[in-house]
Amino acid sequence: MTKPTRRSALWFDNPDNPGMTALYLERYLNYGLTREELQSGKPLIGIAQTGSDLSPCNRVHLELAQRVREGIRAAGGIAFEFPVHPIQETGRRPTASLDRNLAYLGLVEILHGYPLDGVVLTTGCDKTTPACIMAAATVNLPAIVLSAGPMLDGWVDGRLAGSGTIIWESRLRLATGEIGYDEFMGHAAAAAPSTGYCNTMGTASTMNSLAEALGMCLPGNASIPAPYRERGQMAYLTGKRIVEMVDEDLRPSKILTRAAIENAILVNSAIGGSTNAQPHITAIARHAGVEIVPEDWQTVGYDVPLLVNVQPAGKYLSEGFHRAGGVPVVMKELLANGKLNGDALTVSGRTAAENVADARAPDGEVIKSFAAPMKEKAGFVVLKGNLFDSAIMKTSVISDDFRARYLSRPGRENVLEGRVVVFDGSEDYHHRIEDPALGIDENTILVIRYSGPIGWPGAAEVVNMQPPAALIKRGVASLPCIGDGRQSGTSGSPSILNASPEAAIGGGLGLLETGDVVRIDLNTGAADALVEPAEWERRRAAFVPNYPESQTPWQEIFREKVGQQSDGAVLELAVKYRDVYEKIPRDNH
Ligand code: FES
Ligand code: MG
Repeated sequence: MTKPTRRSALWFDNPDNPGMTALYLERYLNYGLTREELQSGKPLIGIAQTGSDLSPCNRVHLELAQRVREGIRAAGGIAFEFPVHPIQETGRRPTASLDRNLAYLGLVEILHGYPLDGVVLTTGCDKTTPACIMAAATVNLPAIVLSAGPMLDGWVDGRLAGSGTIIWESRLRLATGEIGYDEFMGHAAAAAPSTGYCNTMGTASTMNSLAEALGMCLPGNASIPAPYRERGQMAYLTGKRIVEMVDEDLRPSKILTRAAIENAILVNSAIGGSTNAQPHITAIARHAGVEIVPEDWQTVGYDVPLLVNVQPAGKYLSEGFHRAGGVPVVMKELLANGKLNGDALTVSGRTAAENVADARAPDGEVIKSFAAPMKEKAGFVVLKGNLFDSAIMKTSVISDDFRARYLSRPGRENVLEGRVVVFDGSEDYHHRIEDPALGIDENTILVIRYSGPIGWPGAAEVVNMQPPAALIKRGVASLPCIGDGRQSGTSGSPSILNASPEAAIGGGLGLLETGDVVRIDLNTGAADALVEPAEWERRRAAFVPNYPESQTPWQEIFREKVGQQSDGAVLELAVKYRDVYEKIPRDNH
């Protein structure tokens, strides 16, 4: 095998153009690198740093980067750490969903325009993982994921309390006066006891688990808690491996195939993964040139049982999941039951099946066996009708109570039907939810619109709406919710969400009025407003969208270029750019 010519040598060791070579070299020597190193033919490896004070979920990467560097050096490479645009799910207003595509864009430019031969993608908080993998897919240079790892388990009053999930629960108790403000805040803090990302199977643990299902990280990477010694060891091994990958020319295009995308969908069902996986995995697939349609989530993933007993679909948290063996145990169990593409290639240089060959058997408690799962058929249901062309419902979080109240009426099994109350964005919801004139009772369906990519802007996590306090006091902790936004992966609500097209561009939710009756048939996937067609068309003709103006330049650009949730909410013009790594930028002088 002939060694491929380093791309970085076009900057630092180009005898055809000594003037430019000198210009490129000079400033990289000024902090102590030597010309010998930069012209040695060693691969130059980027460390795409997503940690910062603004991104606490990923902040441990600031320390892990040292172990990554040592791994890179040990394997004969040279490390260049650089920042990625920060993404913080809970701190960023009006939503971190604006940042995914922005971080993606920035990372593509860095990987294209600087002398890098490979990259370590440091992932963690929800959108950092898809942003980094999307960029690696577009650029198609050797790339490997290193997760920050989840936080340690949280505890409140002697029971496990998951980040996010405890807030959705405790705010109900706050609303009824059962606990006070200080106690409520104490619950939130207790659920986040260490560095790392959410310890529930929220979007962060989901997306890092799916990075492993995709084959983009070393086996076992996803579940190691951030403070554990194995996390630093994984950082070292990841740094070593990327250098080998450069020499093997192992690129994302060989890994991010249709088989890998299907593996992500399959594993997502088995872990009870976040509904945010839909736009993120769809975005990764599209940037990798893999065709995916919304229905794939149901046809590939619905039939898979829920194996992982972790909140919000189950009861344990990250440390329990890690001790039970994490993602490799789940993948091995799926593989043994014909629900995984075992021949998919991974960054380890081996197939998915080879990676998990030595994984242990499920412990039967935190990770269930395929034969005795938490729940059969636990994937997403994909819905369609006059309300939208596509929306999803996460069936793994349908509680017995919810099923009994809404989905088990005689003669109407799995049919959700009720009068809707419609809100235009979350301010409208907060202002009016307690208004008795709305007539909200246990049979009401709450709808929120203008919360999609264009309406918000960036699709916001607002669909899991809490019922009015009076209803909560009567024991109705949740109502069915529908929306064109997203919901937190830490929420246990079986909302109907990611509705596309969104209200802002004339989707059916925009035509809905409070008092209409909506019927969702989970048997057929039909989701319709029971409104006369003539009346529906009258409303369409009179439709005027109602959403706020852009507040920043990026919001305006984003709204102009973004697609819908069902299509991954990518910058549509970006999808055509592939193999950017092969495109050598012009010299800059
Ligand atoms: Fe960052 Fe949950 S808020 S991982
Ligand atoms: Mg979230």
